[in-house]
Amino acid sequence: MDVRILDTTLRDGEQTPGVSLTPDEKLRIAIKLDELGVDVIEAGSAITSEGEREGIKKIVSEGLSAEICSFARALKIDVDAALECDVESVHLVIPTSDLHIKHKLRKTREEVKDLAVQNTEYALDHGLIVELSAEDSTRSDFDYLTQLFKEGIEAGANRICACDTVGMLTPEKAYDFYKPLTKLGVPLSVHCHNDFGLAVANSLSGLRAGASQAHVTVNGIGERAGNASLEETVIALHSLYNIPTNIHNEMLYDLSKMVARLTGVYLQPNKAIVGENAFAHESGIHADGVMKKAETYEPITPELVGHKRRFVMGKHVGSHIIQKRIQEMGLRVNDQQFQQIFSRIKSLGDKGKCVTDVDLQAITEDVMGILAEKVVELIDLTIVSGNKVTPTASIRLNIDNNEVLEAGIGIGPVDAALLAVRKSIKDFADIELEEYHVDAITGGTDALIDVVVKLKHEGNIVTARSTQPDIIMASVEAYLGGINKILGSKYVKKIKEGDL
Ligand code: KIV
Ligand code: ZN
Repeated sequence: MDVRILDTTLRDGEQTPGVSLTPDEKLRIAIKLDELGVDVIEAGSAITSEGEREGIKKIVSEGLSAEICSFARALKIDVDAALECDVESVHLVIPTSDLHIKHKLRKTREEVKDLAVQNTEYALDHGLIVELSAEDSTRSDFDYLTQLFKEGIEAGANRICACDTVGMLTPEKAYDFYKPLTKLGVPLSVHCHNDFGLAVANSLSGLRAGASQAHVTVNGIGERAGNASLEETVIALHSLYNIPTNIHNEMLYDLSKMVARLTGVYLQPNKAIVGENAFAHESGIHADGVMKKAETYEPITPELVGHKRRFVMGKHVGSHIIQKRIQEMGLRVNDQQFQQIFSRIKSLGDKGKCVTDVDLQAITEDVMGILAEKVVELIDLTIVSGNKVTPTASIRLNIDNNEVLEAGIGIGPVDAALLAVRKSIKDFADIELEEYHVDAITGGTDALIDVVVKLKHEGNIVTARSTQPDIIMASVEAYLGGINKILGSKYVKKIKEGDL
């Protein structure tokens, strides 16, 4: 049987400390979730604020295929707020553990059960689909929990959901906990938090026990350690359990990047499925195996989730990989040149640096004596900043023999200058600034400033650095250095191929 996906990135995910999305950002994510094929979008909690209601209303009026749902406590005012937004369903939540009932709500079990039943009836009477959800259900008295669900179902609840609010389940316990709840006659959702890193495993166990819907968030964002991640749950179902969902798997990587950008919650590189290293290979034996037959060290193809395979050359790289990559770049080196390239890569690896394909091309061209063309050069840069003006930068660059003049405003002079650079090159190449780090190497106001940038182009990451006393110049020079690494090597390649 297919598993349904309820995505709660816009509600539980937005509860990530420090994350707050504007109504337009929520709409952009909702549109992408809909294209991805999620069955239900929990668009927010309508009672929260005017802005939250605006976001939910925008999503509703988009006419998406997914069911649009609002979170609501089992209170009339919450259901009314959801009704004002014209959503199709409510995720109607009531705490069921004594811990929450006594200390948070200061009510009795009976009062809580009555609230669940009354508000289920109220929401149904007003035309809403009701998913009745028990908060902290995994620390609740199981008989009481079951009784509350039974009465909610008798009142007409369409679905039920049992939340592992603070991630107390283990995969074994999850199976035993969810199994009896699947017998209550309505579809059951799993909603698992990741406090012990088990949210996905517990969700999968609950689904194996017979639950039919999983609550998930993109990148697993959410309160504290977050929720079960959408991409890991869906791909585990697809690839390990052979259970279908309605998700278009090949959109997962792009959606993950979009959510990271909009929430500001960036992923660890080794994040499963969508992390930057999820399909990156460094060690000689692994990379060699993957080149011969990808399945040797890849359990799924990167294409399945819209990601890309990368070979990173660090100190573990084997000589035949480097040889092969150089050949694939259309370059021919003799043995002596190859030894020089090999030892430069190994010594960079010993210093903790990794070499991307673009770096390898630059090293190879350097060893071969091919001059990488400096495609972009700074002509001049003017910055205006102070307490009464918006930081503004105007920049003049020579790009591939064209003079380009651009301006940018930012929250500070560095931001303004880098924006001006970004705007200048946008017609020449699609280059994203992935990371920016700044360090003062020495102490004092005349310290040398070391700026390192990571730029991304066609799936490759290029690192460039500049060290100068002026932070703005260091930032711009590092940025231009990276752009030249990318465009310079492309330019040389085109000349060689006769395209220029
Ligand atoms: O984790 C949880 O218990 C929740 C409920 C409030 C629905 O997100
Ligand atoms: Zn939750």
